[in-house]
This record gives sequence, C-alpha cells and structure tokens, in this order.
Amino acid sequence: SNTLKIAPSILSADFGNFERDVKRLEAAGADYIHVDIMDGHFVENISFGADVVKAIRPATKCLLDCHLMVENPEKYVSAFAQAGADSLSIHVEATSHIHGALQKIRAAGLRSSVVINPGTDVSSIKHVLGLVDMVLVMTVNPGFGGQKFLPECLEKVRELAEIREFRGLDFEIEVDGGVDDETIVACRAAGADVFVAGSYVFNGDVAENIATLREKLA
Ligand code: DX5
Ligand code: ZN
Repeated sequence: SNTLKIAPSILSADFGNFERDVKRLEAAGADYIHVDIMDGHFVENISFGADVVKAIRPATKCLLDCHLMVENPEKYVSAFAQAGADSLSIHVEATSHIHGALQKIRAAGLRSSVVINPGTDVSSIKHVLGLVDMVLVMTVNPGFGGQKFLPECLEKVRELAEIREFRGLDFEIEVDGGVDDETIVACRAAGADVFVAGSYVFNGDVAENIATLREKLA
C-alpha cells in the first residue's frame, strides 16, 4: 500500500518569495508541495492561478499537488497541465460533470484527485473512485489557512479506507486543514496517507516543523 507523505501548503508561504520557500520545503524533506488555487467564487478567498505554478515549477522536483478551489475546474485542466502541475484535485461540489472532469485530467497526463468538503458525503464520489489517484477529504471548510481541525471528518477517511480495501483500489487518501503535530496522529489512525499542513509548517522553523510531523507518523 501507500507510503505516508507530507504535503506542506504554500498558502502559508511568503507570496513574495515562493521560490525560496519551495526550495526550503524540498530541502526539509517535503514529499508533495500543496498548491491552493482559489477563485473567489467557489470559496470566498482569492489566492493565485496557473502562472504561479509555472513560476515555481523550475524550483523543485517535488510533486506539485494542485488543489483547485474553483468553479467548473474542467475549464482549467490544460492551463495547469501546461504550467507543470503533476496532480489536480477538484471538488465534487464545483462541477456538474465530475466524471468527465476527472477523465479530462488523466487524459492530460496528470494524476487525478477528487475532493469532498466537510458537509459532503463519501457516497457522492463512490462512482468515480475508479478514476482517481487520490481522494482529498477536507478537514476544514475551504478558503483560508489557519482554521481549526474538524474531527468529525475523520469518519469519512475511515469509510474511504474501508472502501479502498474492499474494492481493491489504490488511491491515496489526503487530509487538508488544521493538520498539526497532534491532529496528524488521528488522521493517520483513520487511514490517511497524505497530510497537508500550511500554518503549522510555516509558523516557526520549516525544517523543524516538518521533522516533527514526520516523527508523529513514525
Ligand atoms: C484551505 C486550504 C488548505 C490550507 C491549509 O482552504 O485548502 O490547504 O492551506 O492550511 P492549514 O494547514 O493552516 O489549515
Ligand atoms: Zn488545500
């Protein structure tokens, strides 16, 4: 099965120094770089778009794990593919065509991932689990870094881990929102494999914080 991966989010990086911060994350042993794209419609906040992915691509060999919090994400697949993204996570709540959108991501040569918000049930994605390399379970309501972890979402992580085993699938399960040195332990116990952390990683020494998260997974 899957190895455990740490995916720091650059939403908490210094927006004037993405190149420096991405290099720091890679040097500190990050597995994926989590890139939060927000359009001001699907979520209230606006972050940045495909051009920022293009700008940081040369700075790292890490997998660029792009989390699209945008309406109708199918419209942006080719832009992110051309920018050098490796993986696209799209919300089931953001499109009427989740199946086709995931097919489009794979057809573009990228890893595909489907995301569910805290209020969305696992049953809403059961028909596309064969089309994804990862499922992202939000553990906060998307839009902002630094929010409090919602433990009730872990029930869905457990449910997905069971379905994965029962159906013989091998998608990764990622958690995102409020992950720190304490909540990461509960996430892992529930069956998550990929752990996004933004404010925890960037609050203080990046390398020390990533090392602490890694120790909690050991
Ligand atoms: C929230 C984003 C998260 C965010 C996590 O909308 O999807 O990736 O950066 O930040 P923390 O770890 O601070 O909750
Ligand atoms: Zn995210």
